[in-house]
Amino acid sequence: MDKIVILTGAGISAESGLGTFRDEGGVWTKYDLSEVATPEGFARDPAKVHDFYNARRKNAVGASPNAAHVAIARLQAKYAGEVILVTQNVDSLHEAAGAEAIHMHGRLDRAICAACNARWDAPPEMFATDACRVCGKTATRPDIVWFGEVPKALHVIGDHLESADLFAAIGTSGQVYPAAGFVAEAKRAGARTVEINLERSDVASLFDEHRIGPASETVPAWVDMLLR
Ligand code: APR
Repeated sequence: MDKIVILTGAGISAESGLGTFRDEGGVWTKYDLSEVATPEGFARDPAKVHDFYNARRKNAVGASPNAAHVAIARLQAKYAGEVILVTQNVDSLHEAAGAEAIHMHGRLDRAICAACNARWDAPPEMFATDACRVCGKTATRPDIVWFGEVPKALHVIGDHLESADLFAAIGTSGQVYPAAGFVAEAKRAGARTVEINLERSDVASLFDEHRIGPASETVPAWVDMLLR
């Protein structure tokens, strides 16, 4: 296998204490996503949206990578071929473990100005009254991709899927597109596909192989197998 493309979702950070979205007690069972994770929600009530992301940023800052993040970093460092990591997660636990990831849904620790597109490291808390450091407009927001917005780096990710020999999805429910469609893209391009999840996802039938269990156990075992 020359090229491995890995897609991660909230399940890989669950054992680091960060909640998933759609499991029992998940983020979207407690919050209305149309209010806190859409451009329309932000236009209606920016303070509410900032509160939501300030709380999530606080949780993420206090979290540590678990054995699954560490194993992926080890794979990136030691594998003889290429290991491309794409994450839907907005936490920075892959980086904290020493891996390099494409954040297709943005990052909690980055801020962006909706008026001039300037980006900077997000402070611990952001407020609707914050002015952009570059253009001065009060249009700052977390650098997060909301529902109804186009994920980042899709062309780059598409090119990697086209040339993947192995595609792995880890800790993602397969409910949110375009990420949920990556397995089909990789398969069409001839990749072998493996799903590593606590349970079979919504797109499970598209995978050649399933490794069921908590990521902190299944991912290190899978990485050991690849590095053997
Ligand atoms: N190990 C492995 N998998 C786990 C674990 C664990 N310890 N805990 C939960 N999971 C699995 C769940 O079974 C579920 O299939 O992780 C998946 C999490 O699914 P979601 O909560 O839907 O998260 P995700 O797929 O990342 O969501 C995609 O939705 O709201 C948006 O932008 C947000 O990036 C997010 C996107």
